[in-house]
Amino acid sequence: MTAFDIDRILAETFVRQVEYRPETKSTNDLAIELASHGANDFPALTITDRQTGGRGRGANQWWAAEGALTFSLTIDSKVLGLETRDWPKMSLTMGLSVCEVLERLVPDRRVHLKWPNDVFLEGRKVCGVLVETIAQRPGLIVIGIGINVNNSFADAPPELRSIATSLVDVALRSFGVADVLVLQLQQIEARIGTVIAGSEDLAEAWRARCMLEGRTLSIELGTRRLTGVCHGIDDEGALIIQTEGGIERCFAGVISQIL
Ligand code: BTN
Repeated sequence: MTAFDIDRILAETFVRQVEYRPETKSTNDLAIELASHGANDFPALTITDRQTGGRGRGANQWWAAEGALTFSLTIDSKVLGLETRDWPKMSLTMGLSVCEVLERLVPDRRVHLKWPNDVFLEGRKVCGVLVETIAQRPGLIVIGIGINVNNSFADAPPELRSIATSLVDVALRSFGVADVLVLQLQQIEARIGTVIAGSEDLAEAWRARCMLEGRTLSIELGTRRLTGVCHGIDDEGALIIQTEGGIERCFAGVISQIL
């Protein structure tokens, strides 16, 4: 039986529609499929107990064993009043909202935001965010979030164990995934509110958690590669890199190396 209580989600969060599947390939794919077939009640949540083919940025996959929390939230930017110019801030802001929930759940542990869409706990990746739009439904935004909650990496292959972690591995106790989900949805709502309001604390909040600040790194921008020292994240959500040729602001890209 699933841990998720749909009535509770509807009562305690801003979600208006829930689509639960015991198993699905990708909650983002499911969200896109439902929206493409005319779903109209947003925010809509797609959630599963077992995601079998989760997608990450680019060609990346998202591995989620039993005990992980994987869901997607589809929002209608027009109804919420979210301007198109603010869409590029969404990945980072959603990562920030996960940081804020983890800081409550494991208050004594190090939580960082790795621009543009990862959350790290005690130096290892604990969450990934995949924000997508839907060609047939302009204005809708799908926010896919995977958080390693009770899925321990203790028995994972060593190459994975050294780069990924979960809440249970760090806290040495399990968490109620349904509780984590409700907290997370509430924090997402609060943070979307700060984007819409143009709150000044937003940029401060993501800067304070930036894992890359002060580090020398390489970033791939399509066919172009930049190397330099990271000077944090600016008010628009761009990563600032001091290269030999000057300051560069990066709005998208893949961090390929951290020295
Ligand atoms: C990344 O690390 O590049 C992003 C990973 C995003 C994974 C989540 S899990 C829920 C949602 N469904 C997917 O297929 N992907 C996202």
